[in-house]
Amino acid sequence: MTTITYVAADGTRTDVEAEDGSSVMQTAVSNDVDGIVGECGGAMACATCHVYVDEAWADKVGARQSGEEDMLDFAASEMKPTSRLSCQIKISPELDGLVVHLPESQI
Ligand code: FES
Repeated sequence: MTTITYVAADGTRTDVEAEDGSSVMQTAVSNDVDGIVGECGGAMACATCHVYVDEAWADKVGARQSGEEDMLDFAASEMKPTSRLSCQIKISPELDGLVVHLPESQI
């Protein structure tokens, strides 16, 4: 199992055991983590799964997939250098301990 930490805009941290092969978005939704909506179910068509990858993890998580940046332009909260669509971040054992910060708003 891989542990992911979601940090809400108010600083509240939620640790979740994630299933490898799932996504950071799916893991949040199935564990009722507030702050990630995932409206399109991971089809990269909504930007309601926007997260800021913690700086310490940015290299390990890697670059945005093609098309992600265009979608992030429509995100409700400001796009930053480590902004990602969390539906495009696949959970793997290398991401154990990953920290993602949630934006103020997704819609
Ligand atoms: S869930 Fe819609 S873009 Fe990620």
